[in-house]
Amino acid sequence: MACAWLIFPNGLKMMSRKKILLLFLLAFSTGTLLLRQSVHFSWFPKSPPFSCAPWVSPHPKHTAVAFLKTHKTASTTVQNLLFRFAERHNVTVALPHHACDHQFCYPHNFSARFVHPYTIPPRLIASHLRFNHDELRHLMPNDTVYITILREPVAMFESLFSYYNQYCPAFRRVPNGSMEIFLNNPSQYYRSHEKYAMYAHNTLVYDLGGDPEHNPEDSTYLPKFIRQIEGIFSLVMLAEYFDESLVLLRHLLAWDLEDILYVKLNMRSLESKLNISSAHVAAQIRAWNALDAALYDHFNATFWKKLSKMDQGCLQKEVRALHQACERLARHCFRGQPQLRPAMQIKNKDLRPWQPSAKVDIVGYDLPGSGPHLDEQCLKLVMPEVQYSRYLLRKQSLKNRRRVVPHRPLSPQGLLPPPRHPAIKAS
Ligand SMILES: *[C@@H]1O[C@H](CO)[C@@H](O)[C@H](O)[C@H]1NC(C)=O
Ligand SMILES: *[C@@H]1O[C@H](CO)[C@@H](O)[C@H](O)[C@H]1NC(C)=O
Ligand SMILES: *[C@@H]1O[C@H](CO)[C@@H](O)[C@H](O)[C@H]1NC(C)=O
Ligand SMILES: *[C@@H]1O[C@H](CO)[C@@H](O)[C@H](O)[C@H]1NC(C)=O
Ligand SMILES: *[C@@H]1O[C@H](CO)[C@@H](O)[C@H](O)[C@H]1NC(C)=O
Ligand SMILES: *[C@@H]1O[C@H](CO)[C@@H](O)[C@H](O)[C@H]1NC(C)=O
Repeated sequence: MACAWLIFPNGLKMMSRKKILLLFLLAFSTGTLLLRQSVHFSWFPKSPPFSCAPWVSPHPKHTAVAFLKTHKTASTTVQNLLFRFAERHNVTVALPHHACDHQFCYPHNFSARFVHPYTIPPRLIASHLRFNHDELRHLMPNDTVYITILREPVAMFESLFSYYNQYCPAFRRVPNGSMEIFLNNPSQYYRSHEKYAMYAHNTLVYDLGGDPEHNPEDSTYLPKFIRQIEGIFSLVMLAEYFDESLVLLRHLLAWDLEDILYVKLNMRSLESKLNISSAHVAAQIRAWNALDAALYDHFNATFWKKLSKMDQGCLQKEVRALHQACERLARHCFRGQPQLRPAMQIKNKDLRPWQPSAKVDIVGYDLPGSGPHLDEQCLKLVMPEVQYSRYLLRKQSLKNRRRVVPHRPLSPQGLLPPPRHPAIKAS
């Protein structure tokens, strides 16, 4: 099996040390190179044309990444991909302290105090937080690459409105839960000082650490804010152009195409979506979220500028290869087409996505097979955010508490690409 060398803590608990060593020996003897190639062989249709970036990066992969996970922007899918990367490459992921839930005490400004001690020092961070560069700089290595993802504000607001309709007091106050009624007079329902107010107004700017209440008429504020963001973030992805975003991400970090495979996570059922067909409503949403709208427009423009600098033929081929590889992986995992299911119909509890309220239906996936027959790679691919965060915390706590000293000749390092960055210090 392609990814048989992945070890999981539940299994780890049950496996004797001897067996673990045996497993390493087995994988080791198969040879790192062979293993890596066989992985690619199984998911990727063809090697790229000569002039395009190879599917397997010849450069050392960059492993220090801070992903600002914004709300309702397909960021859970990116987080899942980063978590899986971290596990495969033995990279420590900063995770929230228990008191912070699975987010870093959002909506508070991020503080390094929110990070669970067993996950320090990290090389990757990908859970919800309100951006605070000073604190992140103290926590993360100095070669950290900052990335984030934005979404077109009309679709994003619709998503926020229905997802947080029971959380956000501004939305709860609206008669009949009607988005149209809210938009006709937002200030009648919105109070900026309330808890969870940020889900109702310029949420992107809030998540990025900006001031969502700033007067959009002030023509100096946003350009300055954007310059700050551009000075920190190497890549701003866009939910609307997800595959292209991942291709840019792969090039930025010198990752393999295998490292950006995904299936979409944390989606609502079609029935839970409001259909915004009216240009009037769309304009109202943009006017109410004027800062977010201008922010998005700016980064959409720079995104396309970035893409236009690439060889268009190569870009298209890579997007297609990614798409095909994701489909192959999904066919393998689901033994056919992935079936989106309401949470209660998902048999495996570990795979049931969190439901924000009875009025919204967040759909997830079930996997064929159960127990030892479950393919671990597939399990991770569809594991919802809350469960994956808990799982990673357990795994990393186990590792840090036990202080496992790797056996020299069989060092698991041999299974991994050689270290390219300062080794992770054991805490
Ligand atoms: C959080 O960060 C914002 C933006 O930098 C700042 O204006 C605000 O005062 C901070 N809040 C607290 C409680 O520190
Ligand atoms: C980054 O950190 C490493 C190790 O912590 C240190 O050796 C190096 O000098 C630092 N580089 C910069 C540019 O600060
Ligand atoms: C709420 O819905 C009810 C029934 O559909 C309707 O009679 C009422 O006018 C609505 N309220 C508002 C404020 O639109
Ligand atoms: C929105 O449209 C889709 C299909 O176009 C439909 O299935 C869904 O029920 C609609 N949602 C609402 C709330 O009307
Ligand atoms: C993003 O920019 C491109 C290129 O200018 C444009 O075609 C597209 O409509 C924009 N997308 C959105 C969602 O605004
Ligand atoms: C991961 O790295 C840590 C610290 O460098 C090491 O102790 C551990 O054995 C490694 N595990 C694997 C599976 O490579």
